Amino acid sequence: MSATSGSLSWRALVDKASAPYARGGRIAGHFARGKLRWDPVFRHFLVHGLIAPHSRVLDIGCGRGLLASLLQAASHESQSGRWPAGWAAAPHAARFTGIDVMASDVARARAALGGGAIFVCADMRSVAFPAADTVVILDALHYIETVEQDAVLLRVRGALVGGGRLVLRVGDAASRRGFATSLWVDRIVCMLRGRGVRPRAGRTLAEWRSRLAALGFDVASQPMAQGTLFANVLLVGTIGPAASPS
Ligand SMILES: C[S@@+](CC[C@H](N)C(=O)[O-])C[C@H]1O[C@@H](n2cnc3c(N)ncnc32)[C@H](O)[C@@H]1O
Repeated sequence: MSATSGSLSWRALVDKASAPYARGGRIAGHFARGKLRWDPVFRHFLVHGLIAPHSRVLDIGCGRGLLASLLQAASHESQSGRWPAGWAAAPHAARFTGIDVMASDVARARAALGGGAIFVCADMRSVAFPAADTVVILDALHYIETVEQDAVLLRVRGALVGGGRLVLRVGDAASRRGFATSLWVDRIVCMLRGRGVRPRAGRTLAEWRSRLAALGFDVASQPMAQGTLFANVLLVGTIGPAASPS
């Protein structure tokens, strides 16, 4: 079913997407609801149709699988005739693979979504990437060194075999205060959560754009940190079906 003028609100969709996490306890449910509701990137995915219907999605550094849950809820709601008329086509029947190195997050993702998506507990630096139409990396690349980021991006390019899209969110190191704030918060979160990872390497927006362009992506970027003190930027790199990696 295509977009309808149904009465689905963003809040109602967030409630549906976060409900599976509440089975893991109230805190897990609140975390999922808060992140989906207030991080602008999730709504942006749906309003602008960054995930096409039936596409193969690879989410690298997927955390607890919140994007997968949102896509699943969106697919269900749109099929039931509820989808805001002004939004792009719903990401119906997306096939989702998430990769994350943190075993506890992968376990939460699997518990919340069951067989609705594939979650792999692995390090993005070494795990093989499946073929995809859309690769998503949100706030995860800065946990590895610059040279490793480049190697991951090259393999991402290789995974987009028939062309497709990379949706990448990073901090813009040129915005010194916002970037420093996000690193500071990040370090505290990593410490409190006992994560075996820590922030390592950042680049300016211009450097990110040029790296993606060198790989053959047409790149668009925009700020994606509304309501926070961070300097996060969303880059959408598009690649045509005939292009080959450089
Ligand atoms: C800030 S969280 C973002 C989670 C998710 N992308 C989101 O936006 O909700 C970054 C994630 O990257 C994961 N990560 C860090 N280094 C990684 C690596 N080398 N391989 C795979 N995942 C990694 C972390 O475990 C964490 O779940």
